[in-house]
Amino acid sequence: MSLSAGKVSRRLQKVLDLGEGELSRLFSCSALTAGKKLRAKLFLSFCGEDDSRAVDIASSIELLHAASLIHDDVLDGASCRRGRASLYRTRGIPESVLYGDYLFSEAFRLVSSLPDPYYFREMTKALSGVLRGEVLEQTKRADLSLTREGYLKVIGLKTGSLFSLAARLGAHARKSEDLNEENASLFGMYSGMAYQVMDDYMDYFAQKTGKDRFSDIREGVITLPLIILCESCSSRDMEQIASFFKCDTACEDQIMDILDLMRDHKVPSRVLGGARRLIAKARTFIDEDMRTRAASGFDVSGWILERINDAEKEYSHTGGRLRRDKCPEKAQEIL
Ligand code: FPP
Ligand code: MG
Repeated sequence: MSLSAGKVSRRLQKVLDLGEGELSRLFSCSALTAGKKLRAKLFLSFCGEDDSRAVDIASSIELLHAASLIHDDVLDGASCRRGRASLYRTRGIPESVLYGDYLFSEAFRLVSSLPDPYYFREMTKALSGVLRGEVLEQTKRADLSLTREGYLKVIGLKTGSLFSLAARLGAHARKSEDLNEENASLFGMYSGMAYQVMDDYMDYFAQKTGKDRFSDIREGVITLPLIILCESCSSRDMEQIASFFKCDTACEDQIMDILDLMRDHKVPSRVLGGARRLIAKARTFIDEDMRTRAASGFDVSGWILERINDAEKEYSHTGGRLRRDKCPEKAQEIL
């Protein structure tokens, strides 16, 4: 059965169409409209239904996710999201923060009307995980001593939590003995971590992302490519990396030098290897038969694997050289 994420888009439109012009306009330029709806699809594939209750739950997960991205762009000072100007850039901080808050409240309103309190309870827990992850990430900004373990903790909380929630709620709604909620949740958690590793990979190495380039290093967010580089580079290189975080102005040339070091230390393939291992781990929690049946509509782990393969092909094609040749422009300078 192919379950429709289109129903989720229509549901979101209905939830947000309050007949108030301003809210509808915010909706049309928010992160909600252009998204892949991965978390909704993950929920629907495990749930196995797309009736009205399922669509409400899937929509509430997407609302939470969209709200967190709107706030995230404010925190990161991001000018682009999904190839378009971020809501924060077009409407400013007060409107985007309030609109993000509004989406959060709509997410909880949708699940609070369900008779089973499980959905509301698990959503609250997941949101608390996302926030703990964000706080942890803030406290680790520009901290080059962050280890792989610390990084995995951050991404498990900030990104894994919603993937895990989507899979867990889907398994709960399915009520099948074949699909245990704890295993579904772990499958979602590791898939979400692999997704975030790829997002962090793309920030350094992809040619096109629809977002500001090199935003992690510019904002002092320490991610797997930099952690792997710091593990393997010389103490002299380490001084060069540390000096980048001490300089106030955007040091474009230094970013390019760090990218060269990453290439020398084979960081891209090592990061992709890490993402593959996370997907392999995710798949240990769901037996193949269940994954194929649950994935009759969509298999998030297969979707992420395809992204890993595409990234590998792109990198071997360009050898990472294009990044220096086509010196990145800051999105706010384009807009
Ligand atoms: C994207 O990460 C962002 C998240 C995974 C979560 C962001 C959550 C918040 C800002 C907290 C939500 C706020 C409230 C009030 C509940 P990223 O910056 O690594 O990815 P990106 O490249 O897509 O920006
Ligand atoms: Mg961000």
